[in-house]
Amino acid sequence: MSAVCSMFVVLLLLVSAATVEGKLKNYKFDIQLKNVSRLCHAKSIVTVNGQFPGPTIYAREGDTVLINVTNHLKYNMSIHWHGIRQLRTGWADGPAYITQCPVQTGQSYTYNFTITGQRGTLFWHAHILWLRATVYGPIVILPKVNVSYPFPKPHKEITVMLGEWWNADVEAVINEAMKSGGAPNVSDTHTINGKPGPLGTFTCPTKDTFVIPVQQGKTYLLRIINAALNDELFFDVARHKLKVVEVDAVYTKSFDTKSVVIAPGQTTNVLLQANQKPGRYFMAARTYMDAPVPVDNRTATAILQYMIAPNSSFSSNTIAMPQIPSPKDTSSATNFNNALRSLNSAQYPAKVPQTVDRTLFFTVGLAIDSCTTCINGSRISAAINNVSFVMPTIALLQAHFQNITGVFTTDFPDKPPTPFNYTGIPPKNLIASKGTRLTRLSYNSKVQLVLQDTSVLTADNHPIHLHGFNFFIVGSGFGNYDPIKDPKNFNLVDPPERNTVAVPTGGWSAIRFTADNPGVWFMHCHLEVHTTWGLKMAFVVENGNGPNQSILPPPNDLPKC
Ligand code: C2O
Repeated sequence: MSAVCSMFVVLLLLVSAATVEGKLKNYKFDIQLKNVSRLCHAKSIVTVNGQFPGPTIYAREGDTVLINVTNHLKYNMSIHWHGIRQLRTGWADGPAYITQCPVQTGQSYTYNFTITGQRGTLFWHAHILWLRATVYGPIVILPKVNVSYPFPKPHKEITVMLGEWWNADVEAVINEAMKSGGAPNVSDTHTINGKPGPLGTFTCPTKDTFVIPVQQGKTYLLRIINAALNDELFFDVARHKLKVVEVDAVYTKSFDTKSVVIAPGQTTNVLLQANQKPGRYFMAARTYMDAPVPVDNRTATAILQYMIAPNSSFSSNTIAMPQIPSPKDTSSATNFNNALRSLNSAQYPAKVPQTVDRTLFFTVGLAIDSCTTCINGSRISAAINNVSFVMPTIALLQAHFQNITGVFTTDFPDKPPTPFNYTGIPPKNLIASKGTRLTRLSYNSKVQLVLQDTSVLTADNHPIHLHGFNFFIVGSGFGNYDPIKDPKNFNLVDPPERNTVAVPTGGWSAIRFTADNPGVWFMHCHLEVHTTWGLKMAFVVENGNGPNQSILPPPNDLPKC
């Protein structure tokens, strides 16, 4: 390289570094197949850089993160940075056909975003087909330099990623279900950091166990992430209390709990004090599912192992088992969720909208679709306000930005077209309609959205995830939402702030957010099977009039469809 040329490169780097407040973090993701074995089944899975789970993205609040993704697969690929606000940078959000066309075989795309006003644990995952079954990894956002945690500094931090493992090819599993019209086969085991542990696999003893070494007397921060496709999970550590300090990258008032309930798409940080007798203790994850649907009932385990002097041994050889709540323990789950409060300190205020400009009421539930080739002549489907979402073939954000007509409409219903007793006996002739219908929101409007489960086919739980925003869960309950009585009990002071809300089975949740991020933002059930069936929609948030209130132009390497 000539001197002039290299000077130019240095200058360019200086200029781009000067435009960001924090540091630039560069990552390279090669999407490739890798042979791995779990439960005695070897198979080839889709990975990032051959790692399972994938690499951790470390950044600080204020940093700009560049992730160059190259796709070496036969499948199309896209990656979502789950929970990252993506202020004005929807192009980097990731859901295929919503904010971008997928990265095709042999192509690359650099996701470029700045982390603004967030710190804590999030995660990234594939956002196309069912590929997130194996394509996921943690995002750890540290506070700015010289800013400390609002809780005692832990001795060490450990990420605990919960997942689901299928012995079969996941794409074959869902394709088979779509063909027959029934529900897909449940996973073969749950995993902790990619490993099932000894209880997940009685028939096949394996060394596939994640071990966490701890020092007696020290405190550890566990960054728990539920990356499972379809299962809400309880998490518990034998004989150790957990102190919750953060959810979905927002600090909470701390509280002690025996176990944590965590829905797909949610993250929970807890402090664990290694204050028990030196020994080995199981940590375990198993399904929380209080609806009558088939579930994977395998318990994933990892081991918390106290460090002891060399040549000494534990007084007992047994590994203590946690008393994890039973899969149908609705009250444990409800108590946990009801205990969550935003920290709401002077430094980290909870900016709950006190007034509402736009009121939305969405039913979320299953539906039936006719299908002449299916086994029963019908297929299980799912819908919001009786609309089962149809994926477009070019990205919605692009269509919005370039004013391309005919890709979507903005007439998504604000309330159910035909009201009924949502949690009672559903009407017989309720056939969901289909469409790529979106809801338009004006810039900075304050939105209240009530998500109401239905008992169509069966009541079920729905962890609803909204891209591009955090929201406040101001209320929730069982049965039908009552628009007169229930708002009187809303918490408008310190409700939990999240990006994913677990709408209770046969119940409702009310959320509020300020539409301060222009773009197209996906909202869907984070149970992948429900998303596939159509339980999804999107919001179009208009640009504001002020400076820095419009979507930025798309990057040059944005993939084409
Ligand atoms: Cu983590 Cu659209 O999802």
